[in-house]
Amino acid sequence: MSAIKILPGIYSVGVLDWGVRNFHGHTYTTQRGSSYNSYLIVDEKIALVDTVLGSFAQELIENIKEVVSPDKIDYIIANHVETDHSGALPSLMQLCPKAKILGTAKCKDGLYKHYYGDWDFQVVKTGDKLKLGKRTLSFVEAPMIHWPDSMFTYCPEDALLMPNDAFGQHYASSERFDDQVDQCSLMEEAEKYYANILWPLGSVILKKIEQLQSLGIPIKMIAPSHGVIWRSEPAKIINSYISWAKGQTEKKIVIAYETMWGATEKMARKISEGASAAGVEVKLYNVAETDRTEIITRMLTAQGFLFGSSTHDNDMLPNIAAFLEIVKGLKPKGRQVGFFGSYGWAGGAVKEMQETLKDGGADISVAGLSIKYVPDKEELKACFEFGNQFAKLLR
Ligand code: FEO
Repeated sequence: MSAIKILPGIYSVGVLDWGVRNFHGHTYTTQRGSSYNSYLIVDEKIALVDTVLGSFAQELIENIKEVVSPDKIDYIIANHVETDHSGALPSLMQLCPKAKILGTAKCKDGLYKHYYGDWDFQVVKTGDKLKLGKRTLSFVEAPMIHWPDSMFTYCPEDALLMPNDAFGQHYASSERFDDQVDQCSLMEEAEKYYANILWPLGSVILKKIEQLQSLGIPIKMIAPSHGVIWRSEPAKIINSYISWAKGQTEKKIVIAYETMWGATEKMARKISEGASAAGVEVKLYNVAETDRTEIITRMLTAQGFLFGSSTHDNDMLPNIAAFLEIVKGLKPKGRQVGFFGSYGWAGGAVKEMQETLKDGGADISVAGLSIKYVPDKEELKACFEFGNQFAKLLR
């Protein structure tokens, strides 16, 4: 990706990562790749907002060179320590050793603990401003969106918000703006990003949006650190975040299960039929065969979750166990949750699934349904009824 002017004097100089398919240590699959965005602001002083993943440092430097010589950079704004945004700093700082890095106090600590660089660092906090010439940059600390060091940078003259990870999408595109890409794909990636990264941080996100709104600052453009820039209707993604952060759900159920010899799958299918018969939309996933990132995304706005597993060694099967560990970390609130599964003799999967989510503070509203070996006709009726009654709990 070459340098692209996004506003007079402001250039997108980041890189596209078309090939990345796993993120955050394989907790997030990025089927559409991603981008690491970096913004170069050329005024009387020159500032670079965020860098890119270390392996793309040279490409970032080449993009910067299309606009200015890197040794002309006066300031590097480090909105976030995570290496997908700071990894190129060591290479870049060799070319602009006198540049001052600005970030939060936690950013200063975090960058040092990653790179041990002897860099000129200025700690900034909410309300601090940096005059570049005609433009000013102002800073808003955003701890836990999504790391303690996170910060938003705002340029009032352009009503441009650069919130780093917030409002991002793992979405590689040769286009730079929201109005240039397929809207369904864009919103799907934005929702996936929120569900898999930001879901547990809803209350923090709501407070931050309220703070931005109380400051009364106009936002005409949101330039995140991943994916495309929101320029056609920034309120659309802000309102989506408000809805997701408030936990607004629809009358939908996600059933996620793992089966050993097919009996738990029979249960899952019959439970699904029962729920559908109550007029509720159901999505059914075998977690051993399905992308976990996709299932989590579908769960974000679903009011009910049903988890199923065969019993193996008095426990649940390994893929559903790994999946529930992720669900536990997302701390879903205000959902109806139930469990089911087939067993051979002692059982245990339903209890273990319940315990896993209880440990995460989930409100477990429905007793589990366990059936020995393969469900017979009467037991399949019980599965249907279980799904039907569960669906009727949804509001
Ligand atoms: Fe928190 Fe895109 O890194």
